[in-house]
Amino acid sequence: MKHFLNTQDWARPDLDALLEQAARFKRDKLGDQLRGKSIALLFFNPSLRTRTSFELGAFQLGGHAVVLAPGKDAWPIEFESGVVMDGEAEEHIAEVARVLSRYADLIAVRAFPKFQDWSVDRQDRVLRGFARHATVPVINMETITHPCQELAHIQALQEHFGSTDLRGRKYVLTWTYHPKALNTAVANSALTIATRYGADVTLLCPTPDYVLDERYMEFGARNAADNGGSLTVSHDIASAYDGADVVYAKSWGALPYFGRWDEEKPIRDQFRHFIVDSGKMARTRDAVFSHCLPLRRNIKATDAVMDSAACIAIDEAENRLHVQKAIMAALVGQ
Ligand code: CP
Repeated sequence: MKHFLNTQDWARPDLDALLEQAARFKRDKLGDQLRGKSIALLFFNPSLRTRTSFELGAFQLGGHAVVLAPGKDAWPIEFESGVVMDGEAEEHIAEVARVLSRYADLIAVRAFPKFQDWSVDRQDRVLRGFARHATVPVINMETITHPCQELAHIQALQEHFGSTDLRGRKYVLTWTYHPKALNTAVANSALTIATRYGADVTLLCPTPDYVLDERYMEFGARNAADNGGSLTVSHDIASAYDGADVVYAKSWGALPYFGRWDEEKPIRDQFRHFIVDSGKMARTRDAVFSHCLPLRRNIKATDAVMDSAACIAIDEAENRLHVQKAIMAALVGQ
């Protein structure tokens, strides 16, 4: 049984097939690929785009979505094996995943890190628990990666450049300031998918402490070697932006300070100038700009950048609908 947990688990032709189906759904949005089928959407964290696009996507293909928030409108869940469940959790993932599998044809999960211990969070236990115990395909709606966002991003870039891959394009993944330490998921994903599609990727971040987890740096290096691209780390804003074709922005917390965010805060506060602004974009080769959203205007990117013709963030957000319909249809065998 095939899950959609990470793009790195999927062969490039299979990702290309999802993107081709997504392009067809963009042209012709209604279908019957999910007729009589259902998906359980489990949100451990808030969402605007993911929830809306999955629910409406299932509806547009003739299926039905059930939304659950464990710990809020559904019972809190235990994910550890062999524990005495005398805490908050009322039931175990072993029952939850198997019961939902009897009702629904697909299960999708959003579960951000707990932000206390990266060595624990990087194991992705909630998503892995569902994948281990479910008897239907499981979809990652953002945990420590965000593979649905990856495909929506690549679809938007394909639409902009008119080509299926990114070879020969300079792609800048830039850290930006945010008042809180955020998840590395989208940054891990951007690095993974941009190198997978052959881009020359520059990871621009304030200091070596902001480099991403070694697993994703290794994916990026391997993908670049396999697909004709490159991966470079830079802490210099000007040279990173020079000649860029794509600027993708995201904020994330520095992993060496994981769980000690009060210590990281004074460091991140020194780097507000990483904001994406018109001056930086002027150094590029008429680059497109994007972000996964939500985005704090004039913190991560200026109004001028967000409102410019270069910004394709809304196209990328729209594409979430199309790529997720392609993923759901593929996983139910349609
Ligand atoms: N980009 C994204 O996943 O948006 P939401 O958090 O609103 O779902």
